[in-house]
Amino acid sequence: MNMTTTVDVALGARSYPIWIGAGSLADAVRWRGIIRGRHVLVVTNATIAPLYLGRVQAGLQGFAHAALILPDGEAHKTLANCAAVFDALTALGASRDATIIALGGGVIGDLAGFAAACWMRGIQFVQMPTTLLAMVDSSVGGKTGVNLAAGKNLVGAFHQPRAVVIDTDTLATLPPREYRAGLAEVVKYGAIGDVIFFEWLETHANALNARDSTALAEAIAASCRHKAGVVARDEHEHGERALLNFGHTFAHALETETGYGTLLHGEAVAIGMVLAARLSADLGRASNLDTDRLAALLAALGLPVAPPRCDPDHLIAHMRLDKKNLGGRLHLILWRGVGYAEIVADVDEMTIRAVLAG
Ligand code: NAD
Ligand code: GLY
Repeated sequence: MNMTTTVDVALGARSYPIWIGAGSLADAVRWRGIIRGRHVLVVTNATIAPLYLGRVQAGLQGFAHAALILPDGEAHKTLANCAAVFDALTALGASRDATIIALGGGVIGDLAGFAAACWMRGIQFVQMPTTLLAMVDSSVGGKTGVNLAAGKNLVGAFHQPRAVVIDTDTLATLPPREYRAGLAEVVKYGAIGDVIFFEWLETHANALNARDSTALAEAIAASCRHKAGVVARDEHEHGERALLNFGHTFAHALETETGYGTLLHGEAVAIGMVLAARLSADLGRASNLDTDRLAALLAALGLPVAPPRCDPDHLIAHMRLDKKNLGGRLHLILWRGVGYAEIVADVDEMTIRAVLAG
């Protein structure tokens, strides 16, 4: 067992630890202690179950436990599968002190967390993220939900986990494209609020590309510290938490326009961050040199930095649906340069169109 780093999410009585370490899934002595009741349901998917479910189940001896193995993919983050979680809890005889363990990427974490928020008006759950994106972003902060045919994440709840158990060993089996997509969210933390971390990423890009375990553990811990700080200060996104959406309004528009699955979310975020930086420069708020620096880091990490060919009017139409907009005006997360993101209200549409047109 290697060293474990602990990052705390400070939310008063609902505070919780994020444990980061190689082999931490098998370190049940640590995570079992936070499970209060007798019933435990592990929710996972058909890709992850053969790889990691056994390690988690080995730690559940003595509990009445079961596993629900869902099909893999964003298309399965549905209300129907949320109902499947309720059925599995019923079959287990779960009461209000039951625990759900979410073992998987952001899809499983969002869905299982939402089911935990709903079952008997809220039971405890533990996040065991297995993608880099889930480790540095979706497993921390309590945003849970499912998709509707009408759009992504339209139904959801804030429901904080009791703990986040990050086993960096699980990244060894993550497909390269998914791994790189997670790195985009890591870069985001440097871009929006930490010049020093951004510089560290620039000097450790090769180590991260090689999945060097020391560099990875450090990047994950730094990202979790950032996210934990933002969530502690603004849990329900009345202000600062919106900065975590740097590049995301462009990203969601690109994902919708190209069809979900063409670009992975992290790939769209990489392109979206570069577009947000370019727009900031075109509006006279930042230097083009910072845009170039961001694009160079993302490219060094193997991420795309230019949008695929898309109609700017279509993209703007998608951007208009973003939750941050108010009164029909486009509100975006822009920046003053590396490390300084800001919310900008009522951004000029002609300038956005020019940036999108390249
Ligand atoms: P994902 O959960 O679909 O996982 C990506 C793929 O990797 C899947 O095929 C999965 O089965 C596979 N996989 C996972 N771990 C693996 C491992 N260790 N080895 C091999 N394969 C593995 O995608 P994701 O990028 O983790 O999450 C995307 C979801 O997260 C989206 O639904 C998005 O809306 C949500 N999200 C939520 C938040 C939040 O704050 N709640 C933030 C960002 C994204
Ligand atoms: N992923 C953005 C947030 O958690 O607020």
